Amino acid sequence: MRAANDAVYNQNMRVTVGVSGGIAAYKAAELVRALQRRALDVHVVMTEAATRFVQPLTFAALSGHRVITSLWDEAQPEEASGGASGIDHIGEAQLSDALVVAPATANILAKFAHGIADDFLTTMYLATQVPVLVAPAMNVNMWEHPATQANLEILRQRGVKVIEPGTGVLACGMVGPGRLADPEAIADAVWNALGKRHDLAGEVVLVTAGGTREALDPVRFLGNRSSGKMGYALAEAAQSRGARVILVSGPSSLHPPAHCEVIKVTTAEQMRSAVLQRMAEVTLIIKAAAVADYKPVSVSGQKLKRSGPMTLELEPTADILAEVARQRRPGQLIVGFAAETENGMENGRAKLLRKGADAIVMNDVSGDNTGIDADKNAATFLTASTAIELPEMPKRKLADRILDEIAVLRKPRAVVVEMDQPTAQARVLSESDAPPAVRRSLIVEG
Ligand SMILES: Cc1cc2nc3c(=O)[nH]c(=O)nc-3n(C[C@H](O)[C@H](O)[C@H](O)COP(=O)(O)O)c2cc1C
Repeated sequence: MRAANDAVYNQNMRVTVGVSGGIAAYKAAELVRALQRRALDVHVVMTEAATRFVQPLTFAALSGHRVITSLWDEAQPEEASGGASGIDHIGEAQLSDALVVAPATANILAKFAHGIADDFLTTMYLATQVPVLVAPAMNVNMWEHPATQANLEILRQRGVKVIEPGTGVLACGMVGPGRLADPEAIADAVWNALGKRHDLAGEVVLVTAGGTREALDPVRFLGNRSSGKMGYALAEAAQSRGARVILVSGPSSLHPPAHCEVIKVTTAEQMRSAVLQRMAEVTLIIKAAAVADYKPVSVSGQKLKRSGPMTLELEPTADILAEVARQRRPGQLIVGFAAETENGMENGRAKLLRKGADAIVMNDVSGDNTGIDADKNAATFLTASTAIELPEMPKRKLADRILDEIAVLRKPRAVVVEMDQPTAQARVLSESDAPPAVRRSLIVEG
C-alpha cells in the first residue's frame, strides 16, 4: 500500500503522457489526474489527430504546462531549460522519466514499431531512453488484426510495456477487447516502471563485454564467438535504471548505449588494466566479457607462412575476476559470468568460490539459439546460497532480471513499519516496492 504522504517525495519525477487520436482520448484527462495524485509532474504531448477529439487546452489546464502538438512549435524557455537539449522533442525525451501513450492508436503502435518519426510523439519515442508504456484502445477488429498484433510483439520485444486493453462494449458498438485500460491501472504501471528505473541510482557499474583477441601474427588472432550482446544489454539496462555505467568492451559490431562511458580494448591484458584502473570508483562490477584464457607465448612479427603442421604454444592470461575480487573494497559487488557446456552447476559454484565473487551468472552455451552470439539467453544466477533459474528470454530482458537479482544482493535488510503512537510499537507492514525516493523515507533499518 502507498503511504499517504508520497506526494512530497516525487515532485522531481516527470512523466510525459502521449495522447493519440482515438475515441478514448478524453480518458487521458483522467490519467493525467491519476498520475498527479501520485505527485508526478505530468507533461502532455498530443498527435494532430488527438486534437480533433480533445482540445489541448484541457490538458494544458490540467497539467499546468504547455501541451506540445507539433514538431514545429516554437521552443518555450520552460521546455528548453534544465540542462536538456534546446530542441523540443530531444528536450522532452531527456527531461522525462517515463513516456506513456494513452490511448495508443493502431497507427501510433505501427509508427513506434517501425521507427517512423513524422510528428512530435513518434520522434520523441525514438529519442527517449526512459521506460515507454502504451495503452492501446481501438475497435476489436483493429486490435485483432495481425498487423496490430505483430507491431505489439515488436514493441514488447523491445521492452515497451503494453498495458492490455479491457474487454467490453466498444464505442463502435462491437463487443470485444479494445477498451482503454482503467486510468488508475495505467498510472500504477507507470509508477512501477519509475520505481524499477531508479533502483540503481547512485551505483557506478562497470560492465565488461564482448570477446578478446590475442594476436598470433600481424593479421591473425585467437578469439571467440562472443558478440557483446549480453554485456551491452546489461550496460543499457543498468543505465536506464539510474546507474552511471562504464562499459569496457572487446571488439564488437554493436553500437554502445548512449551516455555510457565506453573503453575499447582488444586483448585480455588491455581489459585487465582497464578494469583495474577504474576499480576504485565503481560500486558494482559485472564481468560479462568472454576473456581469452590462453594467449600465444610469442607473437610473430611477420605473417606466418603455411609450412606443414604447426603447434601453437599458449600460456594462461591473467585471471581478471580473481584479481578484481582480491582488490575489492568494502561495499563493492562483483558478479562474474561462466559459459559452461557441461556440469554447469558444479563448475559454476566452484568458480564462484574459487574466485571470491558475490555471484556468477551461468550460461548454458551448448544450445543453438541461446548463449554466445545469440539474441536470447538462459542462465542460472548463482550465489553461495541460492541458484535462481532465469529461463530463455531476450538478452535485454535477461539483463534486467540479472540486475533484479543483483539489486537483491545489494538491498540492506529493510522493512517498512507502521508506528503505533500511543504504545510506540512498530508493526511490520512489508517491504516497499515503491520508487527509491519513497522507500528511503520508509526504511527504518538499513
Ligand atoms: C471518430 C474516430 C474514432 C477513432 N477511434 C480510433 C480508436 O479508438 N483507435 C484507433 O486506433 N484509431 C481510431 N481512429 C483512427 C485514428 O484517428 C487514425 O488512425 C489516425 O490516423 C490516428 O492518428 P495518430 O495515431 O497520429 O493519433 C478513429 C478515427 C475516427 C474518425
